[in-house]
Amino acid sequence: MSLYQLVYYSRNAIAGDASVFEAEVDAILAASRRNNEAAGITGALLFNAGVFAQVLEGPLAAVEATFERIQQDERHGDVSLLALEPIAQRSFSNWAMGFVGHSAENAQRFAAIGLTRGFDPARLGGHKMHAILRDLTLEEEAAAA
Ligand SMILES: Cc1cc2nc3c(=O)[nH]c(=O)nc-3n(C[C@H](O)[C@H](O)[C@H](O)COP(=O)(O)O)c2cc1C
Repeated sequence: MSLYQLVYYSRNAIAGDASVFEAEVDAILAASRRNNEAAGITGALLFNAGVFAQVLEGPLAAVEATFERIQQDERHGDVSLLALEPIAQRSFSNWAMGFVGHSAENAQRFAAIGLTRGFDPARLGGHKMHAILRDLTLEEEAAAA
């Protein structure tokens, strides 16, 4: 089975305060984990400074069908593809969908790698975005272990 990886970013379109946003992200993650596990997809989602960035990895047809559905979602907009390419192995094999979001602790880590308000995800590119998500998710994994 050949594996593919897709990386995109988008702009948050969830209106309301922090509690509305948190509830929507919880719903997104619950649906993602359920659907992705069934479809053989793994990956991670990052949210910072109004921007979502996500890596999806798995069989090409499943990755494409999932991305198709995600693009229709009105909770975000300006969905921009950064990369879609074959990979030798998964980077997020333990994560049906990991999440790295904004928190007091993450604020410093995000600042240290340049993910500050107004950062330009298009300039980072797919490989850099993938590396950022992988490093942050692995840190979460180590912290949880
Ligand atoms: C930023 C963002 C990321 C998402 N990621 C996924 C995902 O990885 N997998 C998934 O199935 N749905 C994802 N969704 C949700 C889909 O757009 C859609 O709501 C969901 O797949 C519908 O699932 P359901 O029919 O089981 O409720 C995401 C939505 C947003 C806004």
